Amino acid sequence: MRRNIVAGNWKMNLGFEQADDLVNLIAEKLDEVETETIVIVCPPYPYLELTSDLASESNFYAGAQNVASFDNGAYTGEVSAQMLASMNIEYCIVGHSERRKYFNESNQDIATKVNLLLKNGIRPIFCCGEVLEERDADKHFDIVKNQVIESLFSLTGEEILDVVIAYEPVWAIGTGKTATGAQAQEMHAYIRSLLTEKYGKEVSDEISILYGGSCNPKNAKELFANKDVDGGLIGGAALNADDFLAIIASF
Ligand code: PGA
Repeated sequence: MRRNIVAGNWKMNLGFEQADDLVNLIAEKLDEVETETIVIVCPPYPYLELTSDLASESNFYAGAQNVASFDNGAYTGEVSAQMLASMNIEYCIVGHSERRKYFNESNQDIATKVNLLLKNGIRPIFCCGEVLEERDADKHFDIVKNQVIESLFSLTGEEILDVVIAYEPVWAIGTGKTATGAQAQEMHAYIRSLLTEKYGKEVSDEISILYGGSCNPKNAKELFANKDVDGGLIGGAALNADDFLAIIASF
């Protein structure tokens, strides 16, 4: 059954003490609520152990924000999928637009990462989305289609079931400018139709497609009310426990 998911992407924010406080607060507050929603917290690497320790005692998961595109070895500064797996990390964001933009990650690089994660039993949260010029030029469907095909469509029908997709229009990330529920639904339905075409309806019906981009407690309900929007990948609002919890309560 397709699950609702809310994942918090802390990006490169917070010192150790602040991170410690935030994740503890999230754990405490989550313990007080009943939710069917899968909650994932993706802190920077140095805070992953802290997060996964708490997650193992609470009802959320720890996720990484990135992974190396190589196996273990002489790749200074990188963190492998095998390392994440050895820490029981169950999710990892890949292909975030900030990785594409600042670290020149290509669809092919992202495909490699997706494969390495799956090989190590970690569920990729695969991000896709267009920039503003592409939307203005009416190319957003083609761009997203290409990202999905080039990074995911070498997977088998069984493998793709472990992938979470996050549609994040780049013009909405960190800008305060959110896609409308209708815009999100339109793209999510399109992504699902691509999955149906390739893998069949039984498979595509099972895949969670999240929306990301200035999602907050005020707009989450409108976004999540759409049939193909199965939750959110949350940046800024995930740095505040009350906001994050309010988003989780928005289904
Ligand atoms: P935002 O970031 O919620 O701050 O827009 C979302 C993301 O980049 O995943």
